[in-house]
Amino acid sequence: MKTTGGSDAAKRNAGESAAEAVEDGTVVGLGTGSTAAHAIRAIGRKVDAGLDVRGVPTSFQSRQLARDVGIPLADLDSVAAIDLAIDGADQFAGPHLVKGGGAAHAREKVVDAAANRFVVVADPSKAAERLTHPVPVEVLPAARTAVAGDVRVLGGDPDLREAEGKDGPVVTDNGNLVLDCAFGEIRSPGELADDLSTIPGVVEHGLFVGMADEIHVGTDDGVDVERL
Ligand code: A5P
Repeated sequence: MKTTGGSDAAKRNAGESAAEAVEDGTVVGLGTGSTAAHAIRAIGRKVDAGLDVRGVPTSFQSRQLARDVGIPLADLDSVAAIDLAIDGADQFAGPHLVKGGGAAHAREKVVDAAANRFVVVADPSKAAERLTHPVPVEVLPAARTAVAGDVRVLGGDPDLREAEGKDGPVVTDNGNLVLDCAFGEIRSPGELADDLSTIPGVVEHGLFVGMADEIHVGTDDGVDVERL
């Protein structure tokens, strides 16, 4: 599993704190990454203890982990609503996020946006005054060169994400490629998000603008909860 940023203890404290918000009889969006994985394991322990919940995974990884820990699963199109989604972030500045370090941001955005309450779990290394993290952009394979050109016109520097443990590029759960696009400091996340969304061939980008309702920032000793 990809790991990023701060300590495992901080990630565990964030994930377990968010899992406490999962209530009986609800549908929960299951995020991707090393921090969300702690939340999924904690929800699995609650299921063992009798909690009635259904999970909507955001990736192959979160589906597999949820199955391993015994969380009953549902597809997004088979549930009336998602009560709560818990997901990680590569960087956050207020309610704005950059996501997609694990190349799962397309499904994450669909599930997180559909949730009545979206709780972000992170360690302190993810906090920023302004977003500066390169923005992952999932693209149709045939469109990657054209999209890279359009990203440059927007002032970005696109870099095709290479796989580790496989020759060639990362291929997403949806069969697409990822361009990591550096824009320096992102002064207007909403504007950039809109611009990226209009590029033909872009499946989804990792800017989650104003989406977070709560951020649980774990530390080695505890957790700070910020309600937005
Ligand atoms: C997955 O594509 C990402 O959006 C992750 O949620 C993000 O990279 C955070 O991952 P970590 O919790 O492993 O840092």
